[in-house]
Amino acid sequence: MKINFTMIKPKDHILVIFGASGDLTYRKLVPAVFDLFLQNLLPDNFAVLGLGRTHISNDEFRKKMIEGIKLFSSFKNTPLETINKFADLLFYYTFNTLNQDDYKNLKNELFKLNSTQNTKENFIYYLATPPSMYEIIPKYLSGNGLNNESNGFKRLIIEKPFGYDLETAKHLNKALQNHFNEEQIYRIDHYLGKETVQNLLVTRFSNGIFEPLWNRNYIHHIEVTSSENIGVGNRGGYYEGSGALRDMVQNHLLLLAGLIAMEPPVIIDSINIRNEIVKVFQSIRPIKENEVENFVIRGQYTESVIKGKLIPGYRNEQGVDPDSRTETFVALKFFIDNWRWAGVPFYIRTGKMLPTRVTEIVIYFKPTPHHLFASDKTITGQYNKLVIRIQPDEGLLLKFGMKEPGAGFKVQEVNMDFHYTELSDTYLPSAYERLLLDCMLGDSTLYHRGDAVEAAWTFVDPILKAWKNNPDIKVHGYPAGTWGPDITDELIEGNNLTWRYPCKNLTNDDTYCEL
Ligand code: BG6
Repeated sequence: MKINFTMIKPKDHILVIFGASGDLTYRKLVPAVFDLFLQNLLPDNFAVLGLGRTHISNDEFRKKMIEGIKLFSSFKNTPLETINKFADLLFYYTFNTLNQDDYKNLKNELFKLNSTQNTKENFIYYLATPPSMYEIIPKYLSGNGLNNESNGFKRLIIEKPFGYDLETAKHLNKALQNHFNEEQIYRIDHYLGKETVQNLLVTRFSNGIFEPLWNRNYIHHIEVTSSENIGVGNRGGYYEGSGALRDMVQNHLLLLAGLIAMEPPVIIDSINIRNEIVKVFQSIRPIKENEVENFVIRGQYTESVIKGKLIPGYRNEQGVDPDSRTETFVALKFFIDNWRWAGVPFYIRTGKMLPTRVTEIVIYFKPTPHHLFASDKTITGQYNKLVIRIQPDEGLLLKFGMKEPGAGFKVQEVNMDFHYTELSDTYLPSAYERLLLDCMLGDSTLYHRGDAVEAAWTFVDPILKAWKNNPDIKVHGYPAGTWGPDITDELIEGNNLTWRYPCKNLTNDDTYCEL
């Protein structure tokens, strides 16, 4: 495997993780930091300070993190001796986030570690806690001067969900900005850390063939699908208060639409890329509360038998209300009212317990103006499609018509495809690895800015309100293991057009997908 060693190393610092006894730290954060360590991308002087309510010693914390590294690092088979060397950089401090007085002790602890590790008073605070702590921690940090950058940087990483609706997101932005400057705040969306999501920019802006076609003159419509073949697992409690619209659309999927629809930035930097994304969000035509049913379909998975196994419905999942109306599936249509996209429908679909795990974008190009060949009139043959596969089997697929060999002129749809695995000697960093490194380097390009988060909520808010205020809007049941409610196809404008039904392999579609 070829690893891309960059010469730029972050400045010496301590990564302080609030919520260090949680799952995110164990599965994602510490394994990602370990992967950076192995690639020699951490600064010479560095430490992780884990904070949590659970009373455990440094050694116990290290032991648990080593277990996580062995399971979730990209380099699982690293010799224990090397893992132990990394574990020496991990420290734990028992801490009650809600107790204001504890922050004084935290400050002492942090400065003690800062002098033993020589980390120049540079601190990154990662909030891997429940969202109810997002206001409290920055407030108490700043109350103890731990936001002050006169002697070193102080950065704050906030996990999603960023707010519960527009009002709470605005409130949270304001509360954070009372204590930290916008430049110090890093709102993480792990989709932006995915290599294939970043590749959207390269595909669009480094290839002369795509950009001239990338507009209302040549594109008929655009589809974004993110399906999962698992249910809510042990996250029922969280998911009940969230649902698919908040969990996936407001952040990850609107972001994908933003990257597909944005204008070329003047230069590739944090300000310009993020400006262009915000402009897209601000141009999305609002869906009014009274028209939600025409633009949005919500569904919830019901019990079904898959391969002889009984799969419980959402309402029977742990932590879920037996009468729940929370959506585990959502499909919506919207328009971007600007010069490039006027009149082009965008469709987004996401759900749990669908047939397969896939995230992809499909660009449907307009058909030729006149059909010369009989078979050219079939629905699938008419639209050239560019499929941008985010995961799994990452790659690009172009579908177009070719002459079937033999007599006559029969057109057959064929594939031209590129799979990332073909670059097999290149190491693809995990999303958290990439994003953590960026924050360490002070690069916020791949993090959300406050105004973008609010613009995305502005679009989503009326839909949430309509669902809340109007219980007559249907929640359609769909059997676990199917592609959501039947009527989802009715959203798509155009003669007999349907969604693409993808498989886990990029080039297979409309065939049986394994659950
Ligand atoms: C998270 C959601 O943000 O993204 C989860 O909270 C979802 O519900 C996950 O499963 C999907 O991420 P990925 O990287 O597996 O597509």
